[in-house]
Amino acid sequence: SHPMHDDIQEVLYTQEQIQQRVRELGAQLTEDYAGRDLHLVTILKGSLPFLADLMRAIDLPLTVDLMGVSSYAGIHSTGEVRVTMDLDETIEGRHVVIVEDIIDTGNTLSYVLRNLRQRAPASVKIVTFLDKPARRGSPLEADYVGFTIPDDFVIGYGLDWNQRYRNLPYIGILKRDVYAGPL
Ligand code: PRP
Ligand code: MN
Ligand code: MG
Repeated sequence: SHPMHDDIQEVLYTQEQIQQRVRELGAQLTEDYAGRDLHLVTILKGSLPFLADLMRAIDLPLTVDLMGVSSYAGIHSTGEVRVTMDLDETIEGRHVVIVEDIIDTGNTLSYVLRNLRQRAPASVKIVTFLDKPARRGSPLEADYVGFTIPDDFVIGYGLDWNQRYRNLPYIGILKRDVYAGPL
């Protein structure tokens, strides 16, 4: 048996497809932020692998900071967004790009956007690796999207279920019986 991989119903994006798409996003950001000081703000923990790949695909001088934000328990958004770690640096007057792994209900990013805008950045844009528009509570659109996905619970490449599966190198759909238990 293959622990972890046996829990996957279907692979949505392979490691190769992910790398290809991240390279494209990096090239786009390189073009759009040429001549400006780009400041990447990552939302931990899910965005860690995406940040690591994306920052190396951007061929510009840039800086990185991390903010810990969490709102999920199991497969459900609690709707209550918790800051687990604040930014290290000021973002006042800086060109911020928020790096997220996924936008689902939009609760997390709505909160983060409100929070960051109070700190008077020069500009704020969003890059998300995955976008799941089906369950959006409030209207929220990313400026850069890797892939738009259907309403399935996905894991891997940083995304977890109960803190696990983040280390899968691909994006997969979790088998229903893993999180729902036997029917
Ligand atoms: C997940 C994911 C996004 C957010 C998206 O984070 O990484 O940050 O939820 O969902 P939403 O649009 O419905 O708010 P989570 O709260 O699970 O914390 P984690 O990144 O530490 O896993
Ligand atoms: Mn997250
Ligand atoms: Mg999570």
